[in-house]
Amino acid sequence: MTLERHRPVMAKETLDALRLPEGGVAVDATVGHGGHALAMLQALGENGTLVAMDWDETMLENAKQALANAPGRVHFVHADYRRLPEELDALKIDRVDGILYDLGVNREHFEDPLRGFSFLRSGPLDMRMDRSAKETAAAWLGRATYGEIARALREFGGERHAAEIAKRIVERKKAGTLRTTDDLVEAVLEAVPPHRREKRIHPATRTFQAIRIAVNQELEDLDYHIERAAERLAPGGRMVTLSYHSGEDRAAKNAFRNLSRSGFKVITKKPIAPSTDEVASNPSARSAKLRCIERNEEH
Ligand SMILES: C[S@@+](CC[C@H](N)C(=O)[O-])C[C@H]1O[C@@H](n2cnc3c(N)ncnc32)[C@H](O)[C@@H]1O
Repeated sequence: MTLERHRPVMAKETLDALRLPEGGVAVDATVGHGGHALAMLQALGENGTLVAMDWDETMLENAKQALANAPGRVHFVHADYRRLPEELDALKIDRVDGILYDLGVNREHFEDPLRGFSFLRSGPLDMRMDRSAKETAAAWLGRATYGEIARALREFGGERHAAEIAKRIVERKKAGTLRTTDDLVEAVLEAVPPHRREKRIHPATRTFQAIRIAVNQELEDLDYHIERAAERLAPGGRMVTLSYHSGEDRAAKNAFRNLSRSGFKVITKKPIAPSTDEVASNPSARSAKLRCIERNEEH
């Protein structure tokens, strides 16, 4: 594992936007490999405190290693970021100076075939980010109706062929031939003939993204939870979101719009995109959008 492989997306832009004060307290709600967290701790300095959250224990272990020699104090928290206020209460932390959400999955999730996230790797249909959660992709697909599958493909994947793919998935379910990531890829290929496939991306990209979002309930009340977390910012404190698809970005945008009516100022009128240099050296950053909001001083 090289640092290059896990380079944090838009690291400089993120740190510039957060403007963390020396000796302050901040939350990295999605610590992952700890790339952003390390930069945050360096900005906070020896007297700083970082709450580092992730619901994937493997990621939390990676972050612990990455941050072993970082300055300041780190509280590692294995939890869904939707519990951010409760976790701060448990740590007896009232206000924080900065909060970062680097949303979505980690590259490592795609690289481990056993986790079932990738259409390029044969594996079980798992796709859970939090492996203490009960429902795998196989279980979700097992209980979801045709309508639910089609809706997920459309809403979470933007899949134009949602109806045909959902139909084929249901047929395979009935025949007992929907067990692995390869089976799911086959279902997509059977449903969408070559001349109707998108050229730019693998035909199963949208299906895998949609099912992953459904299994992990990634967009469930995300805007509400972002707003709730922002209430824990100290006056002048900032929150940054990095999103990678339209559903995530919409949630951040809606949350920030609501917050701007009650004591917060949107810093990024338009989301910031990564530089062409960054996209060239790290293609997985290409869809990233950075948004930032600040709590007004008088609140
Ligand atoms: C894009 S990665 C973060 C990468 C990180 N910024 C770094 O520098 O390495 C997103 C992380 O968020 C975690 N995650 C996603 N949804 C979460 C949730 N609801 N609660 C807690 N962690 C979550 C994932 O497990 C993953 O490790």
